[in-house]
Amino acid sequence: MGTNPYKVVNIIHEGDCLELLRKFPSDFLDCTITSPPYNKCGARGGIKDSIIYDEDTDSKPESEYQSEQIDVLEEIHRATVPGGHCFYNHKVRYKNKGSAISPFEWLLKTSWLIRQEIVWDRNAAINIRGWRFHEFDERIYWLNKSDDAAGHELESKHAILGSVWHIPPETKNKHPAPFPIELPARVLISVFNNEKEKIVFDPYMGSGTTAVAAVLLGHHYIGLEQSPKYIKTAEKRIKEAQSESFKVYAEQTLHNVKNPYHRKIKPDAEKWLQQP
Ligand SMILES: C[S@@+](CC[C@H](N)C(=O)[O-])C[C@H]1O[C@@H](n2cnc3c(N)ncnc32)[C@H](O)[C@@H]1O
Repeated sequence: MGTNPYKVVNIIHEGDCLELLRKFPSDFLDCTITSPPYNKCGARGGIKDSIIYDEDTDSKPESEYQSEQIDVLEEIHRATVPGGHCFYNHKVRYKNKGSAISPFEWLLKTSWLIRQEIVWDRNAAINIRGWRFHEFDERIYWLNKSDDAAGHELESKHAILGSVWHIPPETKNKHPAPFPIELPARVLISVFNNEKEKIVFDPYMGSGTTAVAAVLLGHHYIGLEQSPKYIKTAEKRIKEAQSESFKVYAEQTLHNVKNPYHRKIKPDAEKWLQQP
């Protein structure tokens, strides 16, 4: 565990994430991968209006929701090591037939450096009405704890996977809004390459997908979750993590590109990569 001051790892703590985060020490999380509840904003026109969490209405005045998200993101920022990462999954939402609400509205009010906006192409939409084109995409914001420039460069075998991630939604998990495990796996394989024993955090742990990916890739996890029911599910999944290893292995095989893009477009491109 190195110099980690927070000894309680490989556990999912029960409670409200903001309250628990305020008790965390500073500068020890290596990477957060998370998806908060989206605050449905009364949106209609979907076939899955029924995303209802245990212990949560997911329905607040939008300004209250955004200010809570800023508080959570600021606490994660404080608790993250300098240069550390946060991958924050969210989406562009719409006020029923009205205007769009972009996550940039609150992300720009936080201390994080916004390193990249990744489009997650789920190739499946939950809206079926035609007020706008069906929404196949969500977003993943790659945030860095850094004052100026982005941190270390990704190896090209990871960077070549591009800024549009074609990962279908998880369909077997009974949680109302789970990640597919390929998503946190892609993050961890890319940013840590062969490094192990990092502290991976998810303040909205749900069914434990971030933790299962972390364990299978040799890292530690810390989770927060308000629903005891989901914690039970997550703990069972973590115990049986090996049964999901084939999906993480399949993701690993994608990070194995022999002829990266830059070499195809410019054979002498290798010398650019030597530049700082
Ligand atoms: C979108 S789901 C996360 C799903 C997770 N990524 C997975 O793969 O299962 C959001 C989760 O946050 C939990 N939650 C909502 N508000 C919370 C809060 N204030 N503190 C802790 N957990 C919360 C919900 O119970 C739900 O399980």
